[in-house]
Amino acid sequence: MTNQYQTAQLRELDALHHLHPFTDHKSLRASGSRVIVRGDGPYIFDSEGHRILDGMAGLWTANIGYGRKELAQAAYDQMVELPFYNTFFKTTHPPVVALARKLAELAPDNLNQVFFGSSGSEANDTAIRLIRHYWVLKGEPKRRIIISRKNAYHGSTIAAGSMGGMAHVHAHSYPVYEGFRHIIDPYWYGEAKDGESPQAFGIRAARALEEEILAVGPENVAAFAGEPVQGAGGVKIAPESYWPEVQRIIDKYGILLLADEVITGFGRLGTWFASQYYGIRPNLITFAKAVTSGYIPLSGVIVDDEIVAALMAHDDDFHHGYTFSGHPVACAVALKNLEIMERERLVPRVREFGGPALAKMLAKFKDHPLVGEVRSIGLLGAIELVADKRTRRRFDNLGRVGLICRDHFFREGFIMRAVFDTMVMAPPLIWTQAQFDEAEAVIRRVLDLTLSDVAGEVAA
Ligand SMILES: Cc1ncc(COP(=O)(O)O)c(C=O)c1O
Repeated sequence: MTNQYQTAQLRELDALHHLHPFTDHKSLRASGSRVIVRGDGPYIFDSEGHRILDGMAGLWTANIGYGRKELAQAAYDQMVELPFYNTFFKTTHPPVVALARKLAELAPDNLNQVFFGSSGSEANDTAIRLIRHYWVLKGEPKRRIIISRKNAYHGSTIAAGSMGGMAHVHAHSYPVYEGFRHIIDPYWYGEAKDGESPQAFGIRAARALEEEILAVGPENVAAFAGEPVQGAGGVKIAPESYWPEVQRIIDKYGILLLADEVITGFGRLGTWFASQYYGIRPNLITFAKAVTSGYIPLSGVIVDDEIVAALMAHDDDFHHGYTFSGHPVACAVALKNLEIMERERLVPRVREFGGPALAKMLAKFKDHPLVGEVRSIGLLGAIELVADKRTRRRFDNLGRVGLICRDHFFREGFIMRAVFDTMVMAPPLIWTQAQFDEAEAVIRRVLDLTLSDVAGEVAA
């Protein structure tokens, strides 16, 4: 096949001029980047002509798949009509009005107003400021502490990174902001005591919130923040007992709930928002990624009537905003994306087909010698790789085997992400049985290849 891309040259220029996110730059320079040039439906293609099944929807993002011309047309039309105007100085424009209204319709009933940004990190920064501002407006300025969870990922700005609970992100924040506390994450497979049932563990993990509230003083606590399902932390799915108990504690102490739905928003669990799946009552929902299926950056915070009432009761400005808050082109693309999701019934399809198909496919690997646990919810899935599946003993140098496995996947034409030694996936909502079958065959091959690389380390 003729190669229209100068792969070697692109790699060299990339190494010379492009700093990648969350990357060991030295090792990337040694190995070189893979050049992705095109996407079509559930597949992406590299510069050497390989077709790759994208099990990660880009980065938890391309929910309607790649190559949808309707989104390009929506962007084109909006660019011709009004490519940009700000929303700062008592101005608005049709796409931002229409999208805010649409999001209010899709979100839980009492969340009716939207503050826009461009990335998930920005949305969470906005949420942090709104939460603290709310308590100032309510005459309780001491309420500043936001409690979140270990291994949470809320973004990479200093504020969102501080609210997140990833030690390696904190280590590079110089310094981490004060006013955030991190409690245990609801990760039964990794954190439960011997013999502790998922439900008992879920209650214990939730009660850690109450213990932390009491430890810092309820009068100092502003909010609890959590991803309904921890994504980047390793697709950690809370036991059923967890969220109801968290909500009970939130209600008891009258603190706010921020649901970070940057990954779970827009259908991933078979509901528009995971808050609806779990029946929790957030005061703020942050979203990004799949609102446009990643075709263009857009994010925001959907805010409840109580917070909005507090803002309305005061004359002062809320001193916060971004040039691109409510960018007209991004809003137009989001509207078209949501229209397609509705037209193709992609959200109920996750409940009726995609979620069960993923669970069924993953279950086939639970007896593999490398696999400690498989788990999934909606279209989020994970495979835990362990050295001893009986005792749950991990491999030495956590993350090493995950990378070996991820590289095999890449070579075999399938994308799964390694979170240490947990392989995670979040396919687009459009997968048919053909893609699940293809994934199953690759996963079987790759687990066997990985097993033969580390055979000497795996308990018999
Ligand atoms: C739950 C969650 N919140 C926030 C973010 C940050 O989003 P962004 O990378 O767009 O800043 C991410 C990114 O993966 C995420 O998974």
